[in-house]
Amino acid sequence: MANSTSSTSDQSATPHVQARVNDIRFVGYGVQDLEAEKNFYIDAWKLVEVPSDDGLVYLAAPGSSTQYCVRLRQTDEPRIDVISWAAKDEAEVDALFEQVKAAGGKPVTEPGALTGLGGGYGFRFFDISGFTIEVATGFERREPEILADGEPRPEKISHVVFHAPDHKQWVKFYEAALGFKVSDWLGDFMCFLRCNEWHHRMAVVPGPPTFNHIAYDMPGVDAIMKGLKRLRSMDHDVVWGVGRHTAGNNIFSYYLTPGGWAVEYTSDLEKVDDATWEAKVHQPSLETMDQWGVGIGGPQTMPQPKPDTGLFNAPEV
Ligand SMILES: [Fe+2]
Repeated sequence: MANSTSSTSDQSATPHVQARVNDIRFVGYGVQDLEAEKNFYIDAWKLVEVPSDDGLVYLAAPGSSTQYCVRLRQTDEPRIDVISWAAKDEAEVDALFEQVKAAGGKPVTEPGALTGLGGGYGFRFFDISGFTIEVATGFERREPEILADGEPRPEKISHVVFHAPDHKQWVKFYEAALGFKVSDWLGDFMCFLRCNEWHHRMAVVPGPPTFNHIAYDMPGVDAIMKGLKRLRSMDHDVVWGVGRHTAGNNIFSYYLTPGGWAVEYTSDLEKVDDATWEAKVHQPSLETMDQWGVGIGGPQTMPQPKPDTGLFNAPEV
């Protein structure tokens, strides 16, 4: 672990090369009906179960080398357990720990060996809303499947979206703590943030402190439409979409899991030059939100946000 230095919180210090996370690793959910949620993800959503003997359910996106992208745990109330971000090496993790503290994040664990499935090295902290956030490196990976174009199975996590009471403060926190960069705004209420060459890995909108949705990259529009057919035939019809957003230019389609969590099949997300991309402001309109305007539903058919029940209460695992 790196020693704490005063320069990280010294406001007179000259700007330095910032440590950054470089991708999302997994989202951990607490769910009331573990079997129903697990079966949805395997049978309908087409994630792949990763064997474990700790009573938790681990699910991988078939096209990803990340060992698992979803972790499910049985809980009394639905909650977000942990959002895990990847960093390139242990030195970067140590640097991120200092940045997180300087930005006002509250450490839950110090950098060290991670005991969860896949091991690795990392730490956990509470972000400004109280979500338990993990930063990790050196964890186990899996052999990804090669998905054919149009094959209706997920490649990887595309992005996660949150509500925050002060969403502008949230943006500042994630810029300072984990090195996210703003890619675009929708008006002044939705901000899209990147941690690599993909237009966004995270976005935030105003609201009570809660999770909005997770999106999975699919191998193209045909995969999205075939996925819709499968989900509809299993009584999991689309709740918003299919459409195409303007910020990020991605095709979207939102569904609900049995536990009520919003999940998205997306494709065609824009790649940007991480070093030179300049953030734009898209003017809000129906056409900005959905360039096509032919899908079912809209934001009004998505779950109503209410505060997450797991804030400032880190899971044991
Ligand atoms: Fe999305």
